Order: sequence, then structure tokens, then C-alpha cells
Amino acid sequence: MLSLKGQDILSAKQFDREILLKLFKLADELREEIREKKVLSYGKGRVMATVFLEPSTRTKLSFQFAMKRLGGDVIDFDVTTSSLAKGETDIDTLRIIDGYEPDIIVLRQRKPLFPMKIKDLIKAPIINAGDGWNEHPTQALLDVYTIWRVFGKVDGLTIGIMGDLKYGRTPSSLSYLLSKFNDIKIYYIAPKPLQIREEVLQYIDGKIEYEIVYDVTNIIEKLDVLYVTRLQKERLPDQSIYEKLKGSYKLTADLLQRYKKIPIIMHPLPRTWELDTSVDTLPQAKYFEQARNGLYIRAALIKEVLGL
Ligand code: ASP
Ligand code: CP
Repeated sequence: MLSLKGQDILSAKQFDREILLKLFKLADELREEIREKKVLSYGKGRVMATVFLEPSTRTKLSFQFAMKRLGGDVIDFDVTTSSLAKGETDIDTLRIIDGYEPDIIVLRQRKPLFPMKIKDLIKAPIINAGDGWNEHPTQALLDVYTIWRVFGKVDGLTIGIMGDLKYGRTPSSLSYLLSKFNDIKIYYIAPKPLQIREEVLQYIDGKIEYEIVYDVTNIIEKLDVLYVTRLQKERLPDQSIYEKLKGSYKLTADLLQRYKKIPIIMHPLPRTWELDTSVDTLPQAKYFEQARNGLYIRAALIKEVLGL
């Protein structure tokens, strides 16, 4: 089996099925241990640096909670008071942080592929917490972990990924991770200008059956999971695109209740207009549970990367 010890975690492509199932089981075990003991001792004496050069609530906090629950320490880089304001570069900043010898660096960056470019300059293992529109591998881990917990398996499921598939980084990482399982079908549901990127289709080709569709209503009953994503306003090349596409796909309880079979509803969050709060009370709404699962799967990942 693949060992994650000492590895940079940069892409969802780098996992295999065995390590994924190991992480899912470990996350369940850590959930129980944390419930019983609150703080564990695996991480004692280890320090994680969180470096978020783009906004975050869930990813940053769940990594920090996970490290604390494992018994380790966290140092957070505060972008607002840092010397980035004096014109220091991201690369120098990372080299300085790495010089203080953290055991692990969790990094979010606006520029696609940035962690891949600097990895050889940095001694600590880097966990990619989102690099622009490219990837968000640990989000995919918690997404597939959530699916595994709900269905007791991942193989054989049909998953709709709806929303901004082009400028978002969660649809690509989710697709890469799902390609490690068998007999998966993905429906990519989005208006044409937001459809899934070619490089994603190239990677999953031959591994996953997929279909491109423009509207969820015709296929909703075929789905086990409907994964909704936000239009990535901050990454659009032109804000008129936002105005044009705003509201072009939207899930409400009313719409879902028109169907005999309602898939589970997932969303990486934060949501804007695409997922109405009326959906929250349906038993199929899994997104808050999904966000909570992030803590446990990230704890499992930290434990494996640190070899604890
Ligand atoms: N929080 C997720 C991300 O950072 C999804 C989003 O922001 O829409 O990619
Ligand atoms: N899902 C997610 O990555 O959330 P944040 O951007 O708040 O970290």
C-alpha cells in the first residue's frame, strides 16, 4: 500500500483505493477516540503551520481543530499583519516559515499549481488546501468520506456534480478521487460556460463513465448524490459573466420534492444563491455533516503524513 509518511499532499490523483479506505476507517476510529478523550496524544510535540493566502473558514479551522485534537500544536500565519504587506514574496514567506521547522505546512494559495512549484524548496510536507481553480484534494477526501459513510461504499454510485465546474477546484479533485473506485458514473451538470475542464475529462477517461448535461431536472432521479457548487465569483475573468449566470442553477426544497427519488445533497460550502436554505431540513441534506467530517478525515491524514 502507498505510504503517506513524509509526503506532500498536492493532488487527489496521488491517492489509491487502499489508502483511501484506510483513511476512511482511521477517521472513524479517531472520531470515536476524540469523542471519548477529547484530546489524544499522537501529535504531542509536533507543530503544524497553517498558511492561508486566500480566505477560508472550514479548511483552516478543521485542520487546526484536527491537529489540536491529535494533541499537537498549531501556528497560524496571519496574512493581514504579515510582511507580505511590505512586498515580500510568497516564496520567501514560505521559506522563512519552513526555516522554523514545522512538522507540516497546510497551504492555500490563489495561484494554480503554486504548491507544486515550491515543494522542492520546502522541507516540511505541504498539504495543498486549495490552489486557485486547480485542486482541493483534502476537500475531495472529506467529500468521498461522507459518501462512504452514508452508503457504506463508493463503488457503483451515480454522482451529479452541478454548478461552477470550470472555475471551481472541488469538482476536479472530487472527479480524480472518484476515479479510484469502480463503476462510478458522473453527470457534470452546468451551463456551457461553466462546464468541466478538459484536463479533468482526460484524466478520468476510461476510469469513470460520464455525461455532460446542462440541466439537472431530467436526470435527478438517476442520482445517488447531487454535489452542488458555488459560482466562483472571485475567479471569473469578467464580472458580467457572474451577472449573466447568477441564478442559472438553483436547488430548492420545492424543486427536489417534485421527484420520487431525491439524492443526498452535498456542497463544499460556502453557499450563495445555488442552494436554498429550504433544503436544509430535508433528510437528504448532508452538507453540514460533510463539513464536520472534514475534521476527522484531516486528523487521519495528518496522522498518516506524520507517521504517528
Ligand atoms: N470552499 C471551497 C473552496 O475553497 C468551495 C468554494 O469556495 O466555493 O474551493
Ligand atoms: N469547503 C471549503 O474549502 O471551505 P473554506 O473555503 O471555508 O475553507
